[in-house]
Amino acid sequence: MIYSPLDAFDANLSEAHIFFGDVVNPPDLSSIHVAVIWTLLGLKQDCSVLELGCGYGRIANRLAEKGARVTGIDTSQALLKKATADATEGGVNVEYVLGDIRSLPWRDRFDAAVLWDATFGYFDDADNEKVLHEAASSLRCGGRLLIESENRYAFLHQRSPISLVQRDDDLRVDITSNDVLSDRRNIERIFVRDGCVRRMHLSLRQYGFSEFVRMLRSAGFGTVEAYGQEGGPFTSDSASLVVVAYK
Ligand SMILES: C[S@@+](CC[C@H](N)C(=O)[O-])C[C@H]1O[C@@H](n2cnc3c(N)ncnc32)[C@H](O)[C@@H]1O
Repeated sequence: MIYSPLDAFDANLSEAHIFFGDVVNPPDLSSIHVAVIWTLLGLKQDCSVLELGCGYGRIANRLAEKGARVTGIDTSQALLKKATADATEGGVNVEYVLGDIRSLPWRDRFDAAVLWDATFGYFDDADNEKVLHEAASSLRCGGRLLIESENRYAFLHQRSPISLVQRDDDLRVDITSNDVLSDRRNIERIFVRDGCVRRMHLSLRQYGFSEFVRMLRSAGFGTVEAYGQEGGPFTSDSASLVVVAYK
C-alpha cells in the first residue's frame, strides 16, 4: 500500500519532525533554498505565493520575510501551529490553511506555487497528477509552479541504505530501499526521541524530467524547465531535480 502522509504525520511525529528540522535543514540552508525559489520563480514584492505541503513554515515564512504574500497548506495541525508561531515571532503575516493538496479551494488566484523538499510523489500516479491539476487551477494565467524532487540518478551513487541524523541524545534513522519495478523510493523512518521509538513509512514516486513534462502539460502548463537544486543546470549528479512550469 502506498503511504499516505495524511495518516502518518500525527502530533508525535510532527514534534519529532520539527525537532530534527534545524539539523536536516539548518536556517542558513533554508535561506539558500528560499533564494533559489525566489530567483527561479521570478518573485517580486507583493506577489502571491502558495506553498503546497508547507510543513512548519521554514520556506513560507522566509518567502513572506522577503516581501511575498504567502499562503501555506498542510495536513498537519501541529506543523501549522509551529509555522504560525514562528511567523508571529518573525513579524510576518502568512495565511496557513489545514487541508489536502489533492483538493485545493483556490481558483486563478496565485502568481506562483511551490512544492519543496520532496513533497511531490507521495501518492499513486493518479493522485500525484491530481496535485498538479489542482496547482494549475490555483494559479492565475501566466502563473508558475516550482517542484523540487529527488534526482533518482543521484541515488545510484548512494552506497549505504542507512542515513542518520543526530541531535543531542536523539536520533533519526532512515532505512531506504529503491523499488525498481514501481520507481518508488521507500523509507522506513525511525525517530528515537526522549527514550521513545516512533516509526513512519514514506514512499516517494521518483519521476524523471520527461515524465514531469508529460504530467505538467496534461495539467495545463506550457513551458517546463529543469534545474539543479542551486538553480544551475540539471545533471545526473544534481542532488535534486527542480522543475519550473508556466501556466
Ligand atoms: C518533507 S515535508 C516538506 C515541508 C516543507 N515544504 C519544507 O520544505 O520544509 C512534506 C510536508 O508535506 C505535508 N503533506 C503530506 N501530505 C500532504 C497532503 N496530502 N496535503 C497537504 N500536505 C501534505 C506533510 O505534512 C509535510 O509537512
